[in-house]
Amino acid sequence: MDNRSNTIAGWVLGAGIVALGVTIVTGEMFHAERPEKMGYPVEGVTGVETGGGAEAEKPAAFYLASADPAKGAETFKKCTACHNADKGGPNLVGPNIYGIVDQPIGKHAAGFAYSPAISGKGGSWTWDNLFAWLKSPSSFATGTKMTFAGLSNPQDRANVIAFLNSKSDAPKPMPAAPAAAPAAGGAAAGGTTNAAAAAEAKQPPQGDKAKDQPILTENKATPGKNVKDMAAPSVDGRASQTKK
Ligand code: HEC
Repeated sequence: MDNRSNTIAGWVLGAGIVALGVTIVTGEMFHAERPEKMGYPVEGVTGVETGGGAEAEKPAAFYLASADPAKGAETFKKCTACHNADKGGPNLVGPNIYGIVDQPIGKHAAGFAYSPAISGKGGSWTWDNLFAWLKSPSSFATGTKMTFAGLSNPQDRANVIAFLNSKSDAPKPMPAAPAAAPAAGGAAAGGTTNAAAAAEAKQPPQGDKAKDQPILTENKATPGKNVKDMAAPSVDGRASQTKK
């Protein structure tokens, strides 16, 4: 080999080394392992339902304060396959729930065979208990006979509770909105201001507030005719959210 071919071989070899180097370096730069956990952690956000991407829910009073019983009557169509909410109405798959607000849990409807899950639960149907029950009956009372997935949308729940409240001889005044809009997860214990606000929110407004509350006198739900609506209660949450 003469000098000239040695030089050429040298250049070829050099070029190869440079190319290899570039490949390694760019590989380092642009190759990223898929992280085990996708997304960025957000500090200070608690109570977020994983997977759903839903916002942290506010206390029941927040939604109840602006609840619309007429909209609740619409939502109640999801319940009419199993419930009648008229005075003196029959027990169906589920008990009659006329005047259910503030009644003892699982004792209200005469002649209805409640499951022990609910008849042994204790307490009464406060706003908060109804709110939690309708979100997920099986989480509120494990083993309940109410095979209904629940209403995932908090405003739907509040509306239906307002509707149930209207189905009563003596509708209760709806809770007032929590004083200062508490930060997300405002019911968190510890923050004294939040605790005070929450306590305040639990106080039912006194006096003639009740008169301001629109009371639905006519039952727009047609019991028994909406069995079709009930076909897939488990997709309810998604359906009612996409409807909006
Ligand atoms: C598939 C039938 C079914 C559907 C749908 C259903 N429920 Fe029920 N519900 C029941 C049964 C059964 C019980 C009794 C539970 C038990 O004994 O464990 C019950 C119990 C209740 C109670 C407690 C009553 C009491 O006397 O303590 C309330 C309140 C209630 N349901 C509200 C609703 C509302 C509001 C809806 C609609 C959003 C609904 N339910 C949808 C079957 C149903």
